Amino acid sequence: MVKICCIGAGYVGGPTMAVIAVKCPAIEVVVVDISKPRIDAWNSDKLPIYEPGLDEVVKACRGKNLFFSTDVEKHVAEADIIFVSVNTPTKTRGLGAGKAADLTYWESAARMIADVSKSDKIVVEKSTVPVKTAEAIEKILTHNSKGINYQILSNPEFLAEGTAIEDLFKPDRVLIGGRETPEGRKAVQALKEVYAHWVPEENIITTNLWSAELSKLAANAFLAQRISSVNAMSALCEATGANVSEVSYAIGKDSRIGPKFLNASVGFGGSCFQKDILNLVYICECNGLPEVANYWKQVIKINDYQKSRFVNRVVSSMFNTVSGKKVAILGFAFKKDTGDTRETPAIDVCKGLLGDKAHVSIYDPEVTEDQIQRDLAMNKFDWDHPMHLQPASPSAIKQELDYQKIFDNMQKPAFIFDGRNVVDAEKLRGIGFIVYSIGKPLDAWLKDMPAIA
Ligand code: UDX
Ligand code: ADP
Repeated sequence: MVKICCIGAGYVGGPTMAVIAVKCPAIEVVVVDISKPRIDAWNSDKLPIYEPGLDEVVKACRGKNLFFSTDVEKHVAEADIIFVSVNTPTKTRGLGAGKAADLTYWESAARMIADVSKSDKIVVEKSTVPVKTAEAIEKILTHNSKGINYQILSNPEFLAEGTAIEDLFKPDRVLIGGRETPEGRKAVQALKEVYAHWVPEENIITTNLWSAELSKLAANAFLAQRISSVNAMSALCEATGANVSEVSYAIGKDSRIGPKFLNASVGFGGSCFQKDILNLVYICECNGLPEVANYWKQVIKINDYQKSRFVNRVVSSMFNTVSGKKVAILGFAFKKDTGDTRETPAIDVCKGLLGDKAHVSIYDPEVTEDQIQRDLAMNKFDWDHPMHLQPASPSAIKQELDYQKIFDNMQKPAFIFDGRNVVDAEKLRGIGFIVYSIGKPLDAWLKDMPAIA
């Protein structure tokens, strides 16, 4: 029986291991973490993260071939394949602060593996890491090896939060990078066999280590670039009277462009896009490629611009001040179907409004008040450090809003600013609201009050 141990019971490690366990009943999967509250939550009825379908998968195999434990060393020592899925936040201090990945957690995991291992191991990089991290990890492991053979693989995860289970069940592709030596190929084959339980062979791509590591950063950079491109267009649409949804639809019909990931928004958030692009930018700079670094940096600049443009629009439409005005924020997580608030654009929007002394009330069914308070008090890049422990909160009560009633209770003129283009703007205008949708033709009121950039 193959034994798998995953270090790090987070958004990636937890769901990924649960799916491996459910698809491979003959494999024992243990997920370990240094955080006791996290492991306790994984062993309880209220899992530490909310993902549609996750509860069912965990319930189907927990206690059979899926286990959650804080006994990190024991399970690492027993495993044949070790996935490392610890956090890799952006450095907040020292060399590369604000850009480079902080590999402290990775390094301590690697040192621990070297300390406790008594048999050969395949060590799999699951968390996104800078290119050539495998080389550093290899050095730590082999310099402390006591004759044990370690094979390092890069197997980046492409799941998106909110659709993690669906993405894991039917991945577009699984990517495995390894050393191009007989032992390396053997390790790649061993991991391939795990995924082959449910992923068609033609969807399992094998490459060299560096290609796999870079592909993950490149994929996230390309995805984020699409959003910044469409968001840049949304500003131009508002200025000209074009409609960004119509533009997205029209360009997406070109099969070379494709229809997905072209929704204009208040900006992208989440734990990956910004972090991975900053990482890419830093790697380019370190490799003497400032032009390439600046090219990718622009994707983040447009994202920041889009968030401040939104705040400016809100403030300018209310006579250039929101001081003392009541603003309700509906939704705080970085996207729907998740309680994750890491890098959510809502933080920048709320901070912008609070900076102008608005009275802000925030509601998100998946996020606790505590978490919101912490996020708004936190400095940039601190969010991915251990203090960020997502509490279990999925109340998941889907409520229909009675906009007529809301309108009746509001001071007039009453405004709705839609950062996701999800409301039925025409219906709301019918009630009497002034509605702002991103990249759509502006209501007369908003045209008369141009946002100051
Ligand atoms: C992303 C990648 O999709 C995933 O492959 C990778 O493994 C991790 O990073 P995630 O951050 O979980 O996943 O969510 P994603 O669905 O990509 O959304 C990221 C952000 O972009 C969200 O804030 C979302 O609202 C925003 N977005 C997405 C848009 O603004 N417009 C779009 O068209 C799509
Ligand atoms: P991701 O979104 O990449 O899954 P998370 O922050 O959700 O990241 O999860 C990473 C997990 O890794 C955290 O629960 C953290 O406690 C755990 N972790 C960090 N370092 C170690 C370590 N050395 N040993 C075990 N677990 C660790």
